[in-house]
Amino acid sequence: MAMVCLSDFEAYAKKYLPKIAWDFFAAGADDCSTRDENILAYKRIRFRPRILRDVSMMDIRTKLLGTEISFPVGIAPTGFHQLAWPDGEKSTARAAKAMNTCYIASTYSTCTLEEISAAAPGGFRWFQLYTYRNRAVSQRLVQQAEALGFQGLVLTADLPYTGKRRDDVRNGFRLPPHMKLKNLEGAFEVCTMSFLDPSVTWNDIYWLRSLTHLPIIIKGILTKEDAELAVRHGVQGIVVSNHGGRQLDGGPATIDALVEVVEAVQGRVEVYLDGGIRKGSDVLKALALGAKCVFIGRPALWGLAYKGEEGLRDVLGILQDEFRLSMALAGCANVSEIGRHLVQFPRL
Ligand code: FNR
Repeated sequence: MAMVCLSDFEAYAKKYLPKIAWDFFAAGADDCSTRDENILAYKRIRFRPRILRDVSMMDIRTKLLGTEISFPVGIAPTGFHQLAWPDGEKSTARAAKAMNTCYIASTYSTCTLEEISAAAPGGFRWFQLYTYRNRAVSQRLVQQAEALGFQGLVLTADLPYTGKRRDDVRNGFRLPPHMKLKNLEGAFEVCTMSFLDPSVTWNDIYWLRSLTHLPIIIKGILTKEDAELAVRHGVQGIVVSNHGGRQLDGGPATIDALVEVVEAVQGRVEVYLDGGIRKGSDVLKALALGAKCVFIGRPALWGLAYKGEEGLRDVLGILQDEFRLSMALAGCANVSEIGRHLVQFPRL
């Protein structure tokens, strides 16, 4: 089977993964309107390409908080990679390192943070945290990640409770007995999600700050009000995200929310986006509207399901090539030439 674009990996994963795993990866909340809107919204945005510009030498590198990556697509935190491939997050870490990009490892990894680090020493990684009722658990994870060389702490702030994903409810989704949330083992009864702390507020950013020297990136922002609060609370980065449409159904597509967040932030912190990135031209649209980098969630899982590390490298490689080509066809030789002038956007 020739793998030409990300939908080919999606079709493969749908065909070969056990139904319960496919459904878990694919799920959105309720009737999935936000999940689907994340993708549809890109189709409403059109380019204003420029011509006769020298695009013979392309430079698609960028920097995330000072660290160079070879193109502006990283791997969003997603849980349970062993559902896609036996080596789980170890393969993810290796693929990210091989492609020289950033991998945000989820708290809900099926490998330990040590295993992830050892699989790809020196790779550029951030650690994603949920906050738990038992604060000592969060503290231990943050300090462990910092000691292991993770270079950023991503606080996911849109999950005080887990959204209602109908297929997971129907399937009675739970991890198979041989897979474990290894970073939380012994911490509490991990079969329920009730250990998440829904009382977390902005003040807890100060608590996190007191635990670590790492830059703090807050994930799950969709409004200018919360973007302003994030900047005021001293975070270093914002991920515009709706959790892939898995939390509040009915919210905006992330590419639509990006515009007001970028306007509110005014360059004071870096702004990233995830949700619905399926083509190189989607990446270009997100950068044109002010994202410094985007992250992929489900497509990374499809790549793993296809061929582990190699499959994920293929997915990233296709996005990289498509992004480079879109940039060239839009008349940009360098990411610094990408700007709002490149897109027609009804709400601008
Ligand atoms: C997620 N996401 C997520 N986010 C997070 O902060 N921690 C996590 O453990 C998970 N787990 C997770 C599992 C699965 C199966 C999915 C699909 C998503 C959300 C993820 O980081 C990201 O926001 C979305 O996946 C982005 O949308 P796309 O790229 O999947 O469309």
